[in-house]
Amino acid sequence: MKLVEVLDYEALSLHAAAIIANQVRNKPNSVLGLATGSTPLGCYKELVRQHQEEGLDFSQITTFNLDEYYGLAPNHRNSYRHYMNHYFFNHINIDKKRTHIPSGVPQDLIAECRDYDQRASDIGGMDCQILGLGSTGHIAFNEPSPSFEPFTRLVDLDESTIQANGHYFKIENTIPRQAITVGMRFILNSRAILLLVSSDKKAQALERTLNGTVDPMVPASILQLHPNVTVIADKEALSML
Ligand code: GLP
Repeated sequence: MKLVEVLDYEALSLHAAAIIANQVRNKPNSVLGLATGSTPLGCYKELVRQHQEEGLDFSQITTFNLDEYYGLAPNHRNSYRHYMNHYFFNHINIDKKRTHIPSGVPQDLIAECRDYDQRASDIGGMDCQILGLGSTGHIAFNEPSPSFEPFTRLVDLDESTIQANGHYFKIENTIPRQAITVGMRFILNSRAILLLVSSDKKAQALERTLNGTVDPMVPASILQLHPNVTVIADKEALSML
């Protein structure tokens, strides 16, 4: 894995956005894998700026997101579909029909999961996948577990993940305890992976991801097996290395 050390969150966001912008310019019909959470927000903000001020063109781009809260409809203010529209898609010239996010309220859960993997594989996988890192070492919503799970599926969220993400939800008992997440096959099929890690809350997870053994109890450690991973981490996140 290639490690890019940056000073702070601002530098991380600009560096990540520069890589994505290059990808978009070099291959205007790229397929981008996108993440949610607080970490990629600065990157999306900078990409929006580049679209608005420099004409960065997303008109032929396709996107796939990693996950969605189970039980939240697309128009729910805490759904990841709402997040993506609000922070990114509404401000760029992307065709929303090409933006894929698992449905949090599928009619047929098994079919939804199977179809999501099929759509990603039919398009040939992601050209570039953005990932954040959970403090449990999770990527997407692949929480620590006895084995690496390859496919998109419904998962129970760890208590610490529910706590960490709870601040987005005004009323605590509305925090979903389950999510639909892509599996490791979706992630490892990407041609390039960008893992963004900021803050000392992630320091231990990052240390174990980079230096530990490949272990499903540290889900991100599987990235050691991928040939093209760039980790962009700030000083705080690197404090345990
Ligand atoms: C969330 C998301 C992940 C994200 C991670 C880190 O729960 N499902 O895709 O990367 O946890 O979130 P944050 O960036 O807010 O720390």
